[in-house]
Amino acid sequence: MRHRGRRRVAATVVGLLTLVTTCTACTAGQVAGDRPLVGVAMPTTASERWIADGENVRGQLEALAYDVDLQYAEDDVPTQIAQLEQMIADGADALVVGSIDGVALKDVLAQAAAADIPVIAYDRLIRESPDVDYYASFDNARVGVQQATTLLQGLGVLDAAGEPTGSTGPFTIELFAGSADDNNATVFYQGAMQVLAPYLDAGTLVVGSGQTGFDQIATERWDPKNATARMAELLPRYTAGTRLDGVLSPYDGISIAILDAVRAAGLPLPVVTGQDAELASAQSVAAGEQYATIFKDTRQLAEVTVQMVHALLDGGAPEVNDTTSYDNGVTVVPAYLLAPQVVTEQNYEAVLVDGGTYTAQELS
Ligand code: BGC
Repeated sequence: MRHRGRRRVAATVVGLLTLVTTCTACTAGQVAGDRPLVGVAMPTTASERWIADGENVRGQLEALAYDVDLQYAEDDVPTQIAQLEQMIADGADALVVGSIDGVALKDVLAQAAAADIPVIAYDRLIRESPDVDYYASFDNARVGVQQATTLLQGLGVLDAAGEPTGSTGPFTIELFAGSADDNNATVFYQGAMQVLAPYLDAGTLVVGSGQTGFDQIATERWDPKNATARMAELLPRYTAGTRLDGVLSPYDGISIAILDAVRAAGLPLPVVTGQDAELASAQSVAAGEQYATIFKDTRQLAEVTVQMVHALLDGGAPEVNDTTSYDNGVTVVPAYLLAPQVVTEQNYEAVLVDGGTYTAQELS
């Protein structure tokens, strides 16, 4: 494994010592300007989770005396590439990248590699590039399994322990997936379909529209507006007599759009899944509307990532717990995968309030 940031950091440390010993009037702030620089590229501020991700990574890196350049690209791929190019030009010692399009960064990461800058893929795998050193994420296949399991639990096909209740439905459902350019979206979908397939085959679940293929159900850029538009196409088949019983939703922003569309159509709310425990969805779960979400603790993801950066720049070996699952098409990227947690009306207080994500008041 390469430790490409080392030379630069050693040079920075020498520079720091020189500054400290020669500049008697220096303040901590002035010295801090020469600290190792970490570029953090995040996809968007349109969703709360990425705002929290950016703040957590920046805060934890700054606590370890790194300078941080945190940039958001608002889901625009050329903007993200330009931001990464600027970070490289500014002499970043390491890059942390929450990508928008997993296959669009090959060229800019080649520039990073040429400048000896290590790259950590943050939450989303960067594909088709040899220049990705580590991957910090959650067990994304497990997220999909959990989403499908909560859908089946909400419908009463599985019990709280995940065991079949014997209910054979049939239940009418619709499926949504995330953005096709985000590797996670496919992994969530595959994890979910693995759980749903036997029930679809048996006829316990029926997809009303018949749309089950990833390309048919993907939601470009994860944008809730695209989910609203698809709901407008799907809903006319559902009337008071033909109930929509459940919707597999991969992300809370989409879940809220689905619930709003059903409500606006005056139909009973289906069982809807989600992901990220964003505030509106956490409130909806607490109110018994959205059936479930998946909580991924971005404070822990920041810790894992910062540990990787620190080890890489300090000459150590980042800790990983998975060296086989994430083949990016060119190389298998060593990963540290965290455990996602299911949140329902039954446990939201324990997970989200006692865990310090929200106050009880925010969810009441
Ligand atoms: C993340 C999810 C998030 C989605 C939309 C995925 O890559 O893993 O947590 O819901 O992007 O932002």
